[in-house]
Amino acid sequence: MSPQLLGVDVGGSSIKFARVAVERGEVVGELVTLPTPTPSTPANVLGAVMSHPLATECEGPLGLAFPAVVKAGRARTAAHVDDSWLGVEARALLAARWGRTGAFLNDADAAGLAEMRFGAGCGARGVVFVLTLGTGIGSALFVDGHLAPNTELGHLAVAGLADTEAEAWASARVRAQLGLDWPAWVARLDRVLAELQRLFWPDVFILGGGVSEYFAHWGHLLQVPVEVRRAALGPAAGAIGAAIAAHERYNP
Ligand code: BGC
Repeated sequence: MSPQLLGVDVGGSSIKFARVAVERGEVVGELVTLPTPTPSTPANVLGAVMSHPLATECEGPLGLAFPAVVKAGRARTAAHVDDSWLGVEARALLAARWGRTGAFLNDADAAGLAEMRFGAGCGARGVVFVLTLGTGIGSALFVDGHLAPNTELGHLAVAGLADTEAEAWASARVRAQLGLDWPAWVARLDRVLAELQRLFWPDVFILGGGVSEYFAHWGHLLQVPVEVRRAALGPAAGAIGAAIAAHERYNP
């Protein structure tokens, strides 16, 4: 039987986790969603996950995907979560408080690992970006299937807009906050993708995040001259990738 590990995806507004059959890239049972606790401190966030029955039911290492740069096991930035995460070594905390081992990695990198292995990026070669369009914009860069972690391209300055970062211009949250219709939002997204195209010359963009559920309404409006694919794994991608990382002991 394919090993089944817990994959956790921490976001600014919700935490998603699931039991994942890592060799099939599939959620077993339900994807559990909890509101991110306030304040979203390490103790509150990890406490919320670890006190859920699924955390004890899933034995073995667990994967934690997180909206931050993770270097040598430590959170080096903290976007959309409490600043007390800065410098935190989540694996050490898990081991000390709950006696568990695991993997700790950026959320978009986790979603990217899952999409490349089991989703829209299966078999894609060359330069591939997996972008998650949600509260922020997450990016995962793959070159011939290999992840270059922590690219943080949601913080890229948008060409022609002084002091405006890509995610403050074109995230799904911005669309909702400003009440943008699909064409207006896609025009913004296109500008971000065009900038990435100009700088990296990617072969494929894979677009994920909650808004990709409505890809049929807006995907055809994109004009960037690069192949664009809708992410295939839906809201579970980050949790699936986190569990894969735990299984493979991937720690950037
Ligand atoms: C963070 C990234 C994260 C992305 C999506 C950005 O604000 O800096 O680390 O991957 O949001 O959550």
